[in-house]
Amino acid sequence: MKVGKKNSELRTSPSLDWMVHPPYLHPPYLSTITRAPNRRLIPLPQSLANHTGPVFGTGHINPLDDDLTRNGVHSGEPLGERIIVTGSVMDEAGDPVSNALIEIWQANSAGRYTHHSDKHEAPIDPNFTGTGRCLTNNQGVYRFTTIRPGAYPWQNHQNAWRPPHIHFSVCGRNFLERLVTQMYFPGDPLLALDPIHNGIPDKQARQRLIATYDHDVTQPDWSLGYRFDIIVAGAGRTPFEKDGR
Ligand SMILES: [Fe+2]
Repeated sequence: MKVGKKNSELRTSPSLDWMVHPPYLHPPYLSTITRAPNRRLIPLPQSLANHTGPVFGTGHINPLDDDLTRNGVHSGEPLGERIIVTGSVMDEAGDPVSNALIEIWQANSAGRYTHHSDKHEAPIDPNFTGTGRCLTNNQGVYRFTTIRPGAYPWQNHQNAWRPPHIHFSVCGRNFLERLVTQMYFPGDPLLALDPIHNGIPDKQARQRLIATYDHDVTQPDWSLGYRFDIIVAGAGRTPFEKDGR
């Protein structure tokens, strides 16, 4: 197995804790072998625009964008277990980040994405797109209503299954606070078998990508509730977890 450069030769960002964030190259996650850079990265000098430049406007959020149980409806409600996912977005000091754009995407309850490249033999839900977005409020809080995603198989290795997860993209106050990661569910036996999740070296850091069941978020007779807080900068930054799956 040819793996090219070593991770130690690729790292250029001293601001990232490489026990917390996954390496570019993690051979058990096969795609990283071809995806990891072959040459040393070239650091770009940070300009004032990196700290002050606008990220995204706030004028294109529609009222149903944060409710995935309603924003893709055609003929009825999507199937599956309704859940609420909420949390706080914070900066390095623990202060709330307001007006942060949160975008999520996920598989449906059967473990199928509404995407032409997903060939998993599981049904597409005609009433569920699996995409949503919202802005954090003045307290840095976001909130989505969605359907608990199903596990799905992938071709990384024999009998490989991705644990149920929700992809998150967070655009903070500037591009330095951009974060792409995944949220998992507590108590999932697939987590210990997942090369993507286990690509994060530090066990405690991996735990930070697992949501907490919160009975105060749970709505009686309606929906279970989970909490997933996100830190966009500093030593406590939520681990990155990008993948193509
Ligand atoms: Fe995924």
